[in-house]
Amino acid sequence: MATSGKNRAFPAGFTWGTATAAHQIEGGNTNNDWWAFEHTEGSGCAESSGDACDSWNRWEEDADLVAGLGLDNYRFSVEWSRVEPAEGEISRAALEHYRRLCGGLRERGIDPVVTFHHFTTPTWLTAQGGWESGVAVERFARFCTVVAEALGDVMSRACTINEPNIVATMGWHAGMFPPGKTDVDLSRTVAGHFIDAHRLSVDAIRGAAPGVPVGLTLSMTDYQLAPGGEEQLTSIRHHAEDIFLDATGGDDFLGVQVYTRMLIGPDGWAGYEDGVPVLDMGYEFYPASLANCLRRAWAYTGGALPLLVTENGIGTTDDAQRIDYVRQALEGVLDAIAEGIDVRGYTYWSLLDNFEWAFGYGPQFGIVNVDRDTFARSAKPSAAWLSSVAAANALPA
Ligand code: BGC
Repeated sequence: MATSGKNRAFPAGFTWGTATAAHQIEGGNTNNDWWAFEHTEGSGCAESSGDACDSWNRWEEDADLVAGLGLDNYRFSVEWSRVEPAEGEISRAALEHYRRLCGGLRERGIDPVVTFHHFTTPTWLTAQGGWESGVAVERFARFCTVVAEALGDVMSRACTINEPNIVATMGWHAGMFPPGKTDVDLSRTVAGHFIDAHRLSVDAIRGAAPGVPVGLTLSMTDYQLAPGGEEQLTSIRHHAEDIFLDATGGDDFLGVQVYTRMLIGPDGWAGYEDGVPVLDMGYEFYPASLANCLRRAWAYTGGALPLLVTENGIGTTDDAQRIDYVRQALEGVLDAIAEGIDVRGYTYWSLLDNFEWAFGYGPQFGIVNVDRDTFARSAKPSAAWLSSVAAANALPA
């Protein structure tokens, strides 16, 4: 890595945060498609999300943790199936809960970054055809208006849909997310509906909460060319990333979320190079993927939007490996900034060890451990490390 001797400080105003998502931490979200999927025989889910981290009740502990680390912001999601448990029926109590969370964060000096859709969809809506029929597009915009009206004065930033590319692919092509289908054409139809929903929801949020920056949070992978893979590489980038990047024109920022790289050959994924370290979930340990994706996002969008790293992290039981990963990823962010790329912040995924979707509670992405019986939180060394980097706004020498 070419950073030695270079300035290891981040620009003034660079923001530091950590992220979670409702279904992965709240517990008891029994009214959405994921809960149904977790309880479907043969879905491949390791276990039920159950009580998750009980953050619906313990949100103050979570806010205290983020404050204790001195981070600038906390990205979390609102659970649609709690706010709108039946079509058109709005739970004022659920909205009030999220208002309290935003207010509690602000009191602690933390900016609330609100994600409006993080993987889960209410079951009343999936029963109507949801993202597959496209009925969800308008319903989601309506939901965004309701939430933005309720939280507009207390949220600092809005993220519309988390990783729509992953939801479409994993749910309708790979069959690993609900509804567990394996139909590539359908996954592309769903992707189109998510793109429409993003555009409509930006307008809805801006209409109800003027002045709050809004953007998409997109999963990006450092796709690299293996011999003979040119055509596949172009096609994969097109369907997985470019069509979504095309939909971000006029947004206030682009959220970039990166975990790893993939080598692409003539038949798609070409597997791992010999000897590379592979993590629990099959991700190659490849921290340079973050900077490479920032470069690609910046080049593809022509620098039209400031970039925020809204997720980056590693699922590992080895916390020293986590520090090593984030340190190297941040070295790359410094390089990207030095090249002139406008990167405004870094968000570590995740604050807590939480429900890792089909993998259950095995993978550990958190900088804070959560006891599965008592829900007691205990910060790992990586939490203190990230905190010190954020305080210095620089990487240690
Ligand atoms: C998702 C998170 C997930 C993380 C690790 C991201 O794609 O937004 O919900 O936990 O990856 O797999």
